[in-house]
Amino acid sequence: MVSYKELGLVNTREMFAKAVKGGYAIPAFNFNTMEQMQAIVQAAVETKSPVIMQVSKGARNYANATILRYMAQGAVEYAKELGCPNPQIVLHLDHGDTFELCKDCIDMGFSSVMIDGSSLPYEENIALAKKVVDYAHKYDVTVEAELGVLAGVEDEVSSAVSHYTKPEEVIDFSQRTGCDSLAISIGTSHGAYKFTPAQCTRDPKTGKLVPPPLAFDILHEIEKKLPGFPIVLHGSSSVPQDEVDTINKYGGKLPDAVGIPEEQLREASKSAVCKINIDSDSRLAMTAAIRKYLAENPSHFDPRQYLKPARENMKKMYIHKIVNVLGSNDKL
Ligand code: G3H
Ligand code: 13P
Ligand code: ZN
Repeated sequence: MVSYKELGLVNTREMFAKAVKGGYAIPAFNFNTMEQMQAIVQAAVETKSPVIMQVSKGARNYANATILRYMAQGAVEYAKELGCPNPQIVLHLDHGDTFELCKDCIDMGFSSVMIDGSSLPYEENIALAKKVVDYAHKYDVTVEAELGVLAGVEDEVSSAVSHYTKPEEVIDFSQRTGCDSLAISIGTSHGAYKFTPAQCTRDPKTGKLVPPPLAFDILHEIEKKLPGFPIVLHGSSSVPQDEVDTINKYGGKLPDAVGIPEEQLREASKSAVCKINIDSDSRLAMTAAIRKYLAENPSHFDPRQYLKPARENMKKMYIHKIVNVLGSNDKL
């Protein structure tokens, strides 16, 4: 059993309370590789932002759970080396689907876990989340649970349909589970194809797809039911069109990829939404930079040559999100 406190990590409790009060959101960036980790830490340090580094089941399968845990510990030391004496870094399990997986992460030093029982019947979702909360709270680890189902397909997270969160359920759910934060469904979804062209309108000037707005009415109803309670938005990549265009220009094929407009995320950040999950935008930033670099430098084959611009491009994107979308800069 390793306590996250020994690793210099923090849980989300105080971070979320400050974010809700201050009208900003904490970035929750997924990481699978060293370059993503470095870019996240550099961006957080340069902007003086707290940050959540999150690991999915897929990331654990790809990179190895132990390696990722030590990378998060390394992230704390790296942040200090970069000049941040008291970094606020959370190591979070993203979309944990069983009690055993959550327990394993808690036991190896995670400071926060998500138990995603959103596809289960209501009572089963409550029972599973409560079991995780009871275990996690013994070690002062915070727990995110989810109510409502997001649309979209992701490697380990799939759901063909979207069911918005029912505001009338949130009080009962949060009280009976004891969860520390609640992920809700208000129209975001995972991946780079959040909406079909049929669900969007086309901007006559640019020809680009304009997605339907998020259900802010539901968010506001939930806020009224649970004043000050930390709310989480998954599936919040914006799928920047310049990155998509770069990928397509250099041999990629991402037709009609579309995300959540940043103005809407900016608006959500000012509410009780205090954690915003971004993964796909990092994948796009990395892939765009690598495709461009390799197309322009066909004789190069040292991974450091193409991973360096990839890391730079991700860092630029992370800084942009922190400063221009979530507003979590200058909070350390
Ligand atoms: O919400 C899902 C995250 O984007 C993680 O995706 O399961 O492919 O690692 P993944
Ligand atoms: P995106 O696919 O929109 O980046 O969402 C990531 C996410 O919700 C991770 O849990
Ligand atoms: Zn998610």
